[in-house]
Amino acid sequence: MYRIYASIVGAKVVFSKEKNFRVSVDNIIKKVNKKTKIVFIANPNNPTGTYLEKKELVNLRKKLNNKILLVVDDAYDEYMKDKNYSSGLNIFKNKKNVFILRTFSKIYGLASLRVGWGYGDRKIIDALNMIKPPFNVNKIAQLCAIESLKDSKFITKSVKHNLLWSKKIKNSLEKINIFCNKVSANFLLLNFDKCKINANSVEKKLLKKGLILRDTKTYGIENCLRLTIGNNSENKLFLKSIKSIFKNV
Ligand SMILES: Cc1ncc(COP(=O)(O)O)c(C=O)c1O
Repeated sequence: MYRIYASIVGAKVVFSKEKNFRVSVDNIIKKVNKKTKIVFIANPNNPTGTYLEKKELVNLRKKLNNKILLVVDDAYDEYMKDKNYSSGLNIFKNKKNVFILRTFSKIYGLASLRVGWGYGDRKIIDALNMIKPPFNVNKIAQLCAIESLKDSKFITKSVKHNLLWSKKIKNSLEKINIFCNKVSANFLLLNFDKCKINANSVEKKLLKKGLILRDTKTYGIENCLRLTIGNNSENKLFLKSIKSIFKNV
């Protein structure tokens, strides 16, 4: 959506190549020029699930000109367990040239309510307030967001559930030559390059069992599917279905 919103306001969107499905600080720096105003990064990224470690993110900010705004999308922060990772908010809390994005769509489970928040310098907030439509976050969404913040038990339970199932699914898939990213957010990017059945056929077969995985071709990623971690019965159905698809190949 960053690409789309930026284009709507007439910005020229420039992409920097990832290395091995991972953001490359060097490649970003190579693409930056005098006209660059904002650098966007989702950390962890969707749909790759890869992320920059704290020191790499700090390095990116150091290498960028001070006048360039760095926007860090922390959407999946709550799921992160790697000690080398740190959220954009933790790292850049007092930086005037970093803006942080957070959402209630992930760990808080309020995706369709369209509610999230941003953290940054007063000047940026004032500019946002000048252009934001009135009532852009509706009352129901605000009330739900407030309630969800109180429910820390749900958050702890969900993080635990996600970690347990991500590891379990990743391990099971490796046994049938489906490889994916290191466990990070609440999804896995499944790669079918080492398999006898391609991503497209697997997607169709899973669909017949009621399981919808995200084809990643529109992201420019071939022969992969993104799997979001579900509830216990959905995850069990997925494992049973994928094993049966690959049973006789
Ligand atoms: C990196 C990232 N940021 C943000 C979002 C969505 O956030 P919101 O629902 O608040 O627009 C997603 C969801 O797909 C995402 O993957």
